[in-house]
Amino acid sequence: MTAYSLIAPAKINLYLEIIGDRPDGYHELAMILQSIDLADQLDLRPNGTDQLRITCDDPQIPTDSQNLAHKAAALMAIEFPEAYRRWGGVDIHIQKRIPMGAGLAGGSADAAATLVGLDLLWKLGLTQGELRKLAAKLGSDIPFCISGGTAIATGRGEQLAPLPSADFLHVVLAKYRSLAISTPWAYQTYRAQFSGSYVPDQASLQQRRQRVHASDIVAAISQRDGAKMGQLLHNDLEKAVLPVHPPIECLKQTLAEFQPLGVMMSGSGSTVFALVESEAEAASVGQQLQAKLPDPDLGIWTAKLISSGIQIQR
Ligand code: C5P
Repeated sequence: MTAYSLIAPAKINLYLEIIGDRPDGYHELAMILQSIDLADQLDLRPNGTDQLRITCDDPQIPTDSQNLAHKAAALMAIEFPEAYRRWGGVDIHIQKRIPMGAGLAGGSADAAATLVGLDLLWKLGLTQGELRKLAAKLGSDIPFCISGGTAIATGRGEQLAPLPSADFLHVVLAKYRSLAISTPWAYQTYRAQFSGSYVPDQASLQQRRQRVHASDIVAAISQRDGAKMGQLLHNDLEKAVLPVHPPIECLKQTLAEFQPLGVMMSGSGSTVFALVESEAEAASVGQQLQAKLPDPDLGIWTAKLISSGIQIQR
């Protein structure tokens, strides 16, 4: 039986609006999600046993049942017991490039790649829609990670509407390696401070969901207007996270001094990204940041916005 290598791209949030509470305890969101070419690689190989085993080149990443890729494999084994019996267990090796606790959906990308890889290994022939449904059982960002590109995400984040690609832009990402932010903490902190402004009824909820489709930033993406996109970046979670973590605010302010198109925290943090027009500009902003804030704990990456999610290498 064949082995597969998959590329699992990270995402950034060009827009994140918290609309209100959901009956399932999650938040109703309106987001614009964007894949970037900073990516993990997953190698999936049948192991001739009934075990689902994860290994990772980064010793800090848990490889037990806490790992989202393990959860994804376990879900596939439950959902497709006959295929699991027939083809057996799998070894999944993760080459980790996306930092953890970064707001870049690194764990979600690995889970998405595992779903796609097992669909191939077990010859299930699932559609993208079927894969996305399975993905939604594991986490809010995972359906997007499967198809990737540029998309509006509403509901918990699993209702996707594709947008024209923003793959003409680049980013500089900056994150203090020792500063990981828990997503549940960020949302709980936001709720504790701002739930007074949550939309109270279904009709207004629907209206707010629709509003993002007609928003200026969506128009800017369609018009390939990078400057406008940069000005319209938005993330409600900054209001909860930045006051508690001054180094993230400092990163934002420092990046802004280099006059990129825009600067924003991604997801629940702790990564800050600066949107720029070219690879050369990304390299220059990265170097200027490194010179201004020389700190071995500060990770700086450059990446390109891309139009795809999980990619199969072989
Ligand atoms: O779905 P996922 O497991 O990625 O979500 C992580 C956490 O983020 C949830 O436990 C919840 O606290 C918060 N969250 C939320 N509303 C969403 C998505 C995530 O409150 N729509």
